[in-house]
Amino acid sequence: MALRQYARLVAASGVFEAVVPDAIWVSERPVWFSGVRLRSRTTVVRLADEGLWVHSAAAPTAEMRAALDALGEVRFIVVPNRYHHLEAASTAAHYPNALVVGPKSAEARNPRVEVKLGADDPAYLRAAPCLTSIPLKGVPFLDETAFFHRASGSLIGTDLLMSACARDHFTWRLAGRVFGCFGRAKVPPDVRWHTRASDEVAESIEELCALPIQRILVAHADTITERPTEQLRAAWEFATPARGG
Ligand SMILES: [Fe+2]
Repeated sequence: MALRQYARLVAASGVFEAVVPDAIWVSERPVWFSGVRLRSRTTVVRLADEGLWVHSAAAPTAEMRAALDALGEVRFIVVPNRYHHLEAASTAAHYPNALVVGPKSAEARNPRVEVKLGADDPAYLRAAPCLTSIPLKGVPFLDETAFFHRASGSLIGTDLLMSACARDHFTWRLAGRVFGCFGRAKVPPDVRWHTRASDEVAESIEELCALPIQRILVAHADTITERPTEQLRAAWEFATPARGG
């Protein structure tokens, strides 16, 4: 291993865990939501030009910035849906050369966020060709875009799915059992309550399921590697007109 690469790993290791060596990392932080303590994850992808693509940014503490800087130069700060915008503006303030990518609906919820490019903008797509943008249509409550890192078969979503596991705080372990998402991926309850079955949703899920997915990374679950496509399709079955309601 090259010395530079080793130094990067050491500097980032306290904050980030490598999911795909030298390509994708995640960092977790606790977050309280509706009385339960979830884990929320930031995913970082290193682009071909060594720039960094930061998805659902965490607070840019000195420790986080040092870890990011060890991995590369922050090029994109991705707001993946209407809700995961909380630290986008503070992160952008530290990385003025980075572009904030996301939906305009996030700006409407948080005036501090200045979205420069949509995830479907040709300028963005040309600059980050290793990631395919796939909007989750028919779910305006989220207005989420998923991203597929084809080289590693990694589908990167946010509130597309969630699950609880033994590593979680007891509040989320308990709630996860109530909502049926302990040990298996489900659509977050609030997303499910606000989503009606439609052809648009069904088409988006089928588009995602047609990808050669090896793992799914979402904000509030461990990396999903066990039957990822099957779990994704089953979780969204309620929203397909043929079977859902
Ligand atoms: Fe979330």
